[in-house]
Amino acid sequence: MTLADNSIALHEVRKTFGDNLVVPGITAEIDGGKFTVILGPSGCGKSTLLNMIAGLESVTSGTIRIGAREVQDLAPKERGCAMVFQNYALYPHMTVRNNIGYALKVAGVPKRERCERIKASAESVGLHGLLDRRPSELSGGQRQRVAVARAIVREPSVLLYDEPLSNLDAKLRQGMRMELTRLHERIGATSVFVTHDQVEAMTLADRIMLLNNGEIEQYAAPSDLYENPATTFVATFIGAPAMNLLNAEGDGSGIRLPNGTLLATMPFRGPVTLGIRPESIEIVPDGIPCRNVYSEDLGSHSIIVAEVADGQKLHVATPLCRRMTPGETFSVRFVEDAARLFDPTSGKRLQST
Ligand SMILES: Nc1ncnc2c1ncn2[C@@H]1O[C@H](COP(=O)(O)OP(=O)(O)O)[C@@H](O)[C@H]1O
Ligand SMILES: [Mg+2]
Repeated sequence: MTLADNSIALHEVRKTFGDNLVVPGITAEIDGGKFTVILGPSGCGKSTLLNMIAGLESVTSGTIRIGAREVQDLAPKERGCAMVFQNYALYPHMTVRNNIGYALKVAGVPKRERCERIKASAESVGLHGLLDRRPSELSGGQRQRVAVARAIVREPSVLLYDEPLSNLDAKLRQGMRMELTRLHERIGATSVFVTHDQVEAMTLADRIMLLNNGEIEQYAAPSDLYENPATTFVATFIGAPAMNLLNAEGDGSGIRLPNGTLLATMPFRGPVTLGIRPESIEIVPDGIPCRNVYSEDLGSHSIIVAEVADGQKLHVATPLCRRMTPGETFSVRFVEDAARLFDPTSGKRLQST
């Protein structure tokens, strides 16, 4: 099977629970062999979509293809997918070895082959020497590794993850991100990873599908979502602190605050939302006047929450590492090719620069 065979094509996939329309209709292709992250706020339909791909949830209408096969009416085990859940879902009375090998045993894989595959998958997630333990004798991180080993031992063409790192502490999560990336590069399965965490999405994904109320807000490479958000929803969901959004007005040559302060020279006329990332704002001697409200010195850089002339708030990320006193005044300039314009009513991106 070539990698392209493992692409997933969603065509007008729709899901309702009673009268609750959760996924109004998604049409998209998930690249074979790539790492795709489905990102979005809690309740936006991420798990529902993943479960429909896995076959754990039926589609209300629409089709799902994996490679050349239409799968939406197939049983989960016929789809070639393996899934890793947030809560691990391990069998508590079984050893790590038997947890990993259970599906192979059910499928009638001969014992010798089973042992080899269990060993190989356990090693690939760093579970050496733990095969005879029970889940209760493992840390959270180790349990999550067992869940991953149990998924890859079946040599699936598609690996589906539903918030697998959410129960781990921050440091462990970062380590697991690195390991999952390496694992993906080694096994080459199509990986689809659901999370509400934009850092996980930015670091793991070849492509991010950002969902909002069951619909695709933007589906692109992480750097594209970051630099060229299609909507104000994307602009504020990606990045911490988020992209600043200012109510402003274009006079044909510049974008200005209501009091006339020039923010950026751009040929636009009319009311507009100007988006600028905190790190694309520089502190300069004669710029846009700001007043410090609050600042945090993070060692490597500082975050300043400032107020501009008409009281709108602005987050500034600056290498200047000191805490400013509340009320202290300073001025800034926006790195102009980093400014983005949005329609104030629809929230959609206006110009493409
Ligand atoms: N089995 C179900 N029955 C009824 N409503 C459900 C069911 N599963 C999910 N939902 C609803 O569908 C919406 C999306 O849920 P979900 O896909 O779990 O979101 P996410 O994974 O993005 O947090 C939520 O409003 C949730 O309450
Ligand atoms: Mg979920």
